[in-house]
Amino acid sequence: MTLKLAVIIGSTRPGRKGPAVAEWVAQAARAQGGFEVDLLDLAEFDLPLLDEAAHPVMAKYEHAHTKRWSAAIAAADAFVFVTPEYDYFAPAALVNAVQCLHREWRYKAAAVVSYGGVSGGLRSAQVLRGLLGNIGMMAIPQGVPLPFFANHIGEDGVFIANAKMDEGAGLMFTELAKWSGALKSLRD
Ligand SMILES: Cc1cc2nc3c(=O)[nH]c(=O)nc-3n(C[C@H](O)[C@H](O)[C@H](O)COP(=O)(O)O)c2cc1C
Repeated sequence: MTLKLAVIIGSTRPGRKGPAVAEWVAQAARAQGGFEVDLLDLAEFDLPLLDEAAHPVMAKYEHAHTKRWSAAIAAADAFVFVTPEYDYFAPAALVNAVQCLHREWRYKAAAVVSYGGVSGGLRSAQVLRGLLGNIGMMAIPQGVPLPFFANHIGEDGVFIANAKMDEGAGLMFTELAKWSGALKSLRD
């Protein structure tokens, strides 16, 4: 069974570091195997604050930006949210992007890779996991926090993980594959 994994870049600001972290996540997922990996950049989707009249559960979208986002998420079987921590919280742009949709997320497995200072973005990961669960996703407990992540980004802008980070990512993908395989059968 081929599972489609969407790695979502959760930050949108100019000069953001999220893409460097997300590139590592996507490469680690490809190296592990078992997933067809797609990198989705929230900045590229350019979603405004929720501007649809109907509740997302109805999937009656009026705007091209929502329809495009909906199609990208509907195509995936599993997600890794790559999120920074802003003021001990998940970025507003990421919360908004999740709340713009509903059915496209349901009965799918999701994991969170968070990055930040000493906390590794764990507080952001926890609030985000709460939201994902509320919307019907299986937000698995196996995530990867990346403390002092900026020290792992070289002059070339590439994120270089250490052995513990790679090990954590491997465990996360193994669990994500189990859950997303089981949930795919449930959706079918
Ligand atoms: C508005 C804002 C709030 C932040 N709050 C936190 C925080 O609560 N914890 C933390 O570890 N880092 C915090 N930082 C620092 C971020 O970890 C760092 O800027 C990181 O690069 C943000 O991810 P991004 O570059 O993908 O936007 C904050 C940064 C910004 C811009």
